[in-house]
Amino acid sequence: MNNRKKGRVAVLLSGRGSNFESICRYSKREDSNFEVSFVISNKKKALGLTLAENFGIPNLYISAKKFPTRSGYEDHLIKILKEQNIDLICLAGFMKILSERFIDAFRERIVNIHPSLLPSFPGLHAQKQAVDRGVRVSGCTVHFVDTGVDSGPIILQRAVTVDPDDDERSLSEKILKYEHELFPKAIELYFNGSLKISDGKVIIEK
Ligand code: GRF
Repeated sequence: MNNRKKGRVAVLLSGRGSNFESICRYSKREDSNFEVSFVISNKKKALGLTLAENFGIPNLYISAKKFPTRSGYEDHLIKILKEQNIDLICLAGFMKILSERFIDAFRERIVNIHPSLLPSFPGLHAQKQAVDRGVRVSGCTVHFVDTGVDSGPIILQRAVTVDPDDDERSLSEKILKYEHELFPKAIELYFNGSLKISDGKVIIEK
């Protein structure tokens, strides 16, 4: 039996929650080194919240609109995440930009998944950007979050071929399949202590 203490992950999401689901399923493997301990959504109707309920994971809907200022909202999130003793925050389709204040509170402990091969196509509609630009290869990236938009140190990437008849939808589907593999792997590497950031780059130590 494995008695190691498992890393405590919080997932922040805004919608469908398919990445959350894949992270959660992976965490339930016997040899997994982390558990999803908490889920926060800024959208009341996010399917991810229903999934969290089904998995029996504590979850909260916290709307930024209920707070007069962004810092008030972020301070509330920070308080909850600290109370929950969260080790790593995973942004999985969380459609809010976090300020330096939040990022400083969890320095090098926030990771995000993005549906392109960063640094190409950061920001919204990455798959459409890729199709519109006519690239032959796109993919997904898991990276640490810094104060820029999708600009933090890259942990893992996976490439997919963009076929001539691909549109935003078909490319998104192709990429999503690999997102579901990549995100849990990156989390596992994190809790194995294999990730070191040096000079803005992630070194994966074996
Ligand atoms: C994914 O494509 C992810 O890369 C992006 O937002 C989408 C979230 O999808 N950041 P889901 O909610 O995990 O299904």
